[in-house]
Amino acid sequence: MTFTVTLQPSGRSFQVEREEPVLQAAIRAGVGLPYGCRDGACGSCKSRLLEGRVIHGAHQAKALNADEEAAGLILPCCAASQTDLVIEARNVVGAGDFPPRKMPSRVTSIERAAPDVAILQLQLPANEVFRYRAGQYVEFILQGGSRRSYSIANPPHTQAAAPGIELHIRHLPGGKFTDHVFGAMQAKEILRLEGPFGSFFVREDSPLPMVLLASGTGFAPIKAIVGQLEHEGNARPAAFYWGCRARADLYQLAWAADAARRLPWLRFIPVLSEPRADDDWTGRTGLVYEAVMADLPDLAGHQVYACGTPAMVDAARRDFVARCRLPADEFYADAFTSEADKH
Ligand SMILES: Cc1cc2nc3c(=O)[nH]c(=O)nc-3n(C[C@H](O)[C@H](O)[C@H](O)COP(=O)(O)OP(=O)(O)OC[C@H]3O[C@@H](n4cnc5c(N)ncnc54)[C@H](O)[C@@H]3O)c2cc1C
Ligand code: FES
Repeated sequence: MTFTVTLQPSGRSFQVEREEPVLQAAIRAGVGLPYGCRDGACGSCKSRLLEGRVIHGAHQAKALNADEEAAGLILPCCAASQTDLVIEARNVVGAGDFPPRKMPSRVTSIERAAPDVAILQLQLPANEVFRYRAGQYVEFILQGGSRRSYSIANPPHTQAAAPGIELHIRHLPGGKFTDHVFGAMQAKEILRLEGPFGSFFVREDSPLPMVLLASGTGFAPIKAIVGQLEHEGNARPAAFYWGCRARADLYQLAWAADAARRLPWLRFIPVLSEPRADDDWTGRTGLVYEAVMADLPDLAGHQVYACGTPAMVDAARRDFVARCRLPADEFYADAFTSEADKH
């Protein structure tokens, strides 16, 4: 049995199976809805149900609480329709251009870039170019079917020279996938993945100056975005804030500093929250999103692209909107949620 989902105000519609999450059907139909984790943890897909009835699967209260649900909000990533639906949701232009596909990948190198960060280079099949937007992510399909998401760090145009992706992976001790990456993983290992996913990419129809905000391995999609903007001859101003604990965690500081020297539109501000005495750090300190607010107390005319730990992304969204006049719909984010955020 299938139902019709219509989006307002765009008027776009698509079909969904009875048991199927609404977001999954939208992705299959190439219809752009905003989303992040696809798993009821981040809240990025939250939309208003105008007509019809859904049943939610498991999700986190911080993504959608009971009051919001009672007020008619839904999480399309984990909502199955019971009737035809009309949903009020932003249409993300371009999100449906590159349908996700499954493919094998081969690990070509694993580099330990920081005490708890590994950079994986993966080779992709050469027969069909992998197309995606800078900022999007892939999912590894693990044994048993569970999935883990990682943002692609290289911009799409690099596929022409070498079909492959670079991923920056932070070790979460006790984590199913990252324990393997930091333990037994070897070059030549084959991993199954699916992608691209996500709506975290630059809205190119806007002229507004951008704040690019990353914590830890949230650096990865921002690196891809900066590379893509450079490739396109961008002139739109961007301030890139990267927060880590100590100097050793700024694992590609030289890359970012070089980019800022090379690109007149880019400012780069690294921020350490817990610099060590022997770091000799003379740069900014504190929480990275607070550094943004100190420098840009009025964000009314900006777009923000934030990526990294859920705590940082949530605090930045809350305070930028409440205290710095950022319009809520100019905040774009991928929160790196994990199993720890689902229990
Ligand atoms: C859109 C998106 C993009 C992402 N991109 C990146 C990226 O570029 N780089 C990156 O480093 N990460 C990224 N992540 C996070 C990544 O997908 C994984 O969640 C993360 O790497 C942890 O995977 P894991 O299998 O090692 O840990 P998990 O198995 O998910 O466990 C995570 C932590 O939770 C603990 N845990 C496990 N089960 C439970 C439980 N039942 N109760 C309490 N605690 C539990 C584990 O001990 C561990 O410390 C992204 C996430 C999303 C949603
Ligand atoms: S809660 Fe739906 S995409 Fe994260």
